[in-house]
Amino acid sequence: MTVASTFATSRRSHLCGELREEHVGETVRLGGWVHRTRSLGSIVFLDLRDRAGLIQAACDPRFSPADVIAAADRLGAETVVEVDGVVARRPAEMVNKDMGTGTIELQVTALRIVGPAVTPAIPVARGKDEKLAAEELRLKHRILDLRRPELQANMILRHRLLQVARHAMSSHGFLEIETPILTKTTPEGARDYLVPSRVHPGEFYALPQSPQIYKQLLMVAGYDRYFQIARCFRDEDLRADRQPEFTQIDLECAFVTQEDVQAVVERVLVALWKEAGHDIAIPFQRLSWSTSMERFGIDKPDLRYGFELENWTAHVQGDAATFVHDGITVGGLLRGIRVPGGAALSRKDIDALAATAKSNGLGGLLWAKRTETGWEGQGAKAFGAGTMEKIGGVIGDLIVAGVGADSVALPAMGQVRLELTRRPEHAPATAHAFCWIVDFPLFELDAASGEHTPSHHPFTSPHPDDVHKLESVPWECRAMHYDAVYNGNELGSGSIRITDPAVQETIFRLLKVPAEEIQRRFGFLLDGLAAGAPPHGGFALGFDRIAMLLAGSTSLRDVIAFPKTTAARALFEGAPSPVSARELAALNIAVSIKEQS
Ligand code: AMO
Repeated sequence: MTVASTFATSRRSHLCGELREEHVGETVRLGGWVHRTRSLGSIVFLDLRDRAGLIQAACDPRFSPADVIAAADRLGAETVVEVDGVVARRPAEMVNKDMGTGTIELQVTALRIVGPAVTPAIPVARGKDEKLAAEELRLKHRILDLRRPELQANMILRHRLLQVARHAMSSHGFLEIETPILTKTTPEGARDYLVPSRVHPGEFYALPQSPQIYKQLLMVAGYDRYFQIARCFRDEDLRADRQPEFTQIDLECAFVTQEDVQAVVERVLVALWKEAGHDIAIPFQRLSWSTSMERFGIDKPDLRYGFELENWTAHVQGDAATFVHDGITVGGLLRGIRVPGGAALSRKDIDALAATAKSNGLGGLLWAKRTETGWEGQGAKAFGAGTMEKIGGVIGDLIVAGVGADSVALPAMGQVRLELTRRPEHAPATAHAFCWIVDFPLFELDAASGEHTPSHHPFTSPHPDDVHKLESVPWECRAMHYDAVYNGNELGSGSIRITDPAVQETIFRLLKVPAEEIQRRFGFLLDGLAAGAPPHGGFALGFDRIAMLLAGSTSLRDVIAFPKTTAARALFEGAPSPVSARELAALNIAVSIKEQS
């Protein structure tokens, strides 16, 4: 006798997909969806599906009443049925190695249709080579898509990761405390989603972009170690790794240094990766932001690959072309990448790299291939023999380079490097490459507005060694801000916070936030900081991103039950949607839609 199933209810004894050979001979009662049906003369085979997987249910005159066989023959895909039967071993020639239940089948004695289904708009059961329906269609019919075993596996993994995260945080003494969803604006750099107040005409709540201010206030309130599986809402341009609402593993702790926070985050990441079957080593290596930019041209480097950026400015000799010299004279540097074996790249491949460099602001990409007869390519001509000799290389090498100010040349060459890493001939040297990026600049220049904005958020503490620069050269200050990076993805961000109200006010002044706005928007935080604030810092891991990466997926939509499109629409529910004039009137709101140009 086997142990009773955890999933047994008054209406079923087991899940379809959990039955195994040890159940042979048992009478069971199952409930599930008709995945597919096959009729072989007088025998009808049903594949029944539930979250545990599939089982073959055989309706055969040897053990099934005639009306059961007739009903089974008429069943449409995705109908919900309950079946009674006996678990039997399949004949050797019928064993299906691809199925968890492939050595057994259910010999059906009774069948009830409990959930008739209209013909599914997209197929749930797919043949081995059958393509998925277009994503838009799948999002529109999300419940059918969610029945797919691949998405069910993702949702189950997501659940397991959430449990592990909770347990890891709790076991390190962190208290799970929920913070408001209807709240005040939080400055994480995106637009807010606003919710009108009915009882206070003309006033709005904002949905939190993160629990940032609340978690700092919890430190002031004496809750020492806080965490939350927090929903965040940001109205920003969406990409495959961004959703308008998403989930963070959010934490904050008091009386800590940034290394203390990083140690906690590392332990959580070890537990999450372990749950997905991977052992990872800690502590992660640390790179300063400026080193990361110099070596990889990006603040979230993919360390699985080489192709580091090199500074070849000092290699430039007198025979280099005038434009190379001119670029350097005006303050530019020559940044290059060496690609061993890259001489095999076609002209089309190199043109694609050049297009990437140009679309990222570089005037052009210089390139040269080292062949048996010497250097070839426009770069070889532009640099001249003297410079090429200094750059050096062996037969088979490709070098690509750009001259420009670091603010342009480094990120542009960083994108060229990324494109090189994605080429199929370049296998990663390791599967899991984590690092910490530390010492970010406190501010960054927003290209669109020409204004300085916080690199992280305005509550991030300046680096203690740079505080003295705050008044004289504020834009050169580094911050106590750190990111966790994995295989070129930003997993999370955090910082040590400002606890001195005077420093906080200086930051707001530098950011040109008017005094009355400081009071209106952040007065409650400043009052908190003045009420006895312990030194504190924290972090937020992007949970959806982690689930996506551990599920081996490239889109957050594959790990969120009801995601939005990149146009921020919920296609299944049909949101956003217009509301009635009556509802608007109750909210004291009038809608006037400007023509989009
Ligand atoms: P930050 O804004 O860097 O920091 O966010 C932390 C992490 O959240 C994830 N993330 C997103 N995931 C999906 N969709 C989005 N639109 C999205 N935006 C961000 C990323 C990111 O690294 N309050 C600070 C943390 C702190 O200082 O403690 C914060 O929210 O993985």
